[in-house]
Amino acid sequence: MTNTNSIGFVCGAKGDSVSFLANKDVSLSFGQIVRIDSAERNFYARVVNSESSSTLETIEQLREAEGKEAFGPYSSFRSVNAVLFLEKKAGKLRSPTFNPNYRDKVYAASEEDCSILKLSGELEVGRLRSEDQLLGTVGINIDAIPRMMGMFGMTGSGKTNTELILNAQIIDNSPRTVALIYDFAGQLLEGKEIKPQRGLKDHPLFHSRVQYYSAKDGKMAVGLRTLTPAKLDTLFPDIQPPQKRLAWALYRQFGADWIERTRDTYRAEGTVGVRAQKVVVEALLQKLSSLPHDLFPASNYTFVESALQNVCNGVTCLIDISGLRSEDQNRIVCLSASAIAEHYKRMWEENYEEWQKLPTLLITLEEAHEFLDPNKPKTIFSDIALTYRKYRVGINAVTPRPSRINFDVFAELWTKVIMKTELKKDRVYLTENTPYMEYSETEIKMLDVGEALLISEPKIKFAVPIKVTHYPEYLEAHDKVDYGLPSSSNLTEMDGRIKRLNEQDKISLE
Ligand SMILES: Nc1ncnc2c1ncn2[C@@H]1O[C@H](COP(=O)(O)OP(=O)(O)OP(=O)(O)O)[C@@H](O)[C@H]1O
Ligand SMILES: [Mg+2]
Repeated sequence: MTNTNSIGFVCGAKGDSVSFLANKDVSLSFGQIVRIDSAERNFYARVVNSESSSTLETIEQLREAEGKEAFGPYSSFRSVNAVLFLEKKAGKLRSPTFNPNYRDKVYAASEEDCSILKLSGELEVGRLRSEDQLLGTVGINIDAIPRMMGMFGMTGSGKTNTELILNAQIIDNSPRTVALIYDFAGQLLEGKEIKPQRGLKDHPLFHSRVQYYSAKDGKMAVGLRTLTPAKLDTLFPDIQPPQKRLAWALYRQFGADWIERTRDTYRAEGTVGVRAQKVVVEALLQKLSSLPHDLFPASNYTFVESALQNVCNGVTCLIDISGLRSEDQNRIVCLSASAIAEHYKRMWEENYEEWQKLPTLLITLEEAHEFLDPNKPKTIFSDIALTYRKYRVGINAVTPRPSRINFDVFAELWTKVIMKTELKKDRVYLTENTPYMEYSETEIKMLDVGEALLISEPKIKFAVPIKVTHYPEYLEAHDKVDYGLPSSSNLTEMDGRIKRLNEQDKISLE
């Protein structure tokens, strides 16, 4: 192990908790990872608390501070508490089986430790923070995608930036991976909050690997003739069984254009031509009439079909639902996500070989608390979180309010990116329900913009302090990467050709 200078020595250990005395002038921070070299093994621990004091009594300290008396000799010291999370013995890493000895030396984690901890991954999120330094890269693996994810942090903590970083890498890894992104605030295409403004449209592969859908350009329509009564549950979570039975009867009577014909018949005759109780008819018609014409026109076209094709071909779909009424946002999100997720499931059941060729899918869902709230009707997303792992469909639940996420779903999120969270209720929910986070409540409050704690089980079993890469910097670094795109003719070459053409023109005119 590299022997940079030690930063202190162990003065006590109990269970998984270690205290050490830090040397003078050593700079440390909450959450920092330290290494403790013990006889035949190394331990890794995270700093969770610290205390600075002296060997003088309080009264002596006061009198000395007031200059009334001088006491001495005495020692001042800084003791630091750290919690063990990993042990390395004979080249093998595992959870600690014991704890360090009195006077074992403590070191700040180095680049070498970073590689020992195996923090890098295929989808690079940022770099390890160690006091004021940034060490090696930290990332998650592609097989973490179907194990479900969550990104939590208050307004302005850097969630959108982290979404951009992760999805940019999913695009880079296409067609092995693909993303379906729901953008509620309309920030991901152009990056409105990210300064300097950069979004997915600036990604080098945007034109070949990303499809953008927005209600503003009419590309996001769902034709009424594509809606069978089976989809009513998704469109109207509060629909009752009698209304569904009536819908099926109308569908049998009118066929694919049952919604338009039902609405027309009711408008003209005040009935729907199928026997049913008046309240049931009225309740169903009220629902059917609430579908706005621009999003749900009378046609056979649905953008969901196009999004599904794209996803299967490894083309990421960015679905911008900003500006829609919240009921319509929910309808578009649930309709498209369930069609695509169900396709993966069906392929797994019916055509396993074709399913193997499908890209691993990550669905980014902002405002996740609206869809995973235990007090609201169940949506497709809780099903996906609980049962779609084996179909290689994963969710990234992004929200500033983790405590509003259904507990069973929360427990299934094996990867978590935790950013600054001030609300105590949310911090307590995060730390109480995430393994290895029980000591990090204060730390979560103190994180800066773009700083986060990352856990990605089973690969990263402890909360790694990271600084998420800023998306504009990622683009800058990647501009230099060769994406194998056909090069456009350079300007001098084009200028030369234009000059020659002009000269030819001149000659022919003469
Ligand atoms: N890792 C980072 N490094 C540097 N700056 C960052 C980083 N992450 C975010 N920022 C900056 O902080 C600001 C807020 O970030 P962002 O929009 O990602 O926050 P958010 O959590 O999505 O906020 P909201 O909840 O309001 O959507 C932006 O201007 C962004 O450029
Ligand atoms: Mg945001």
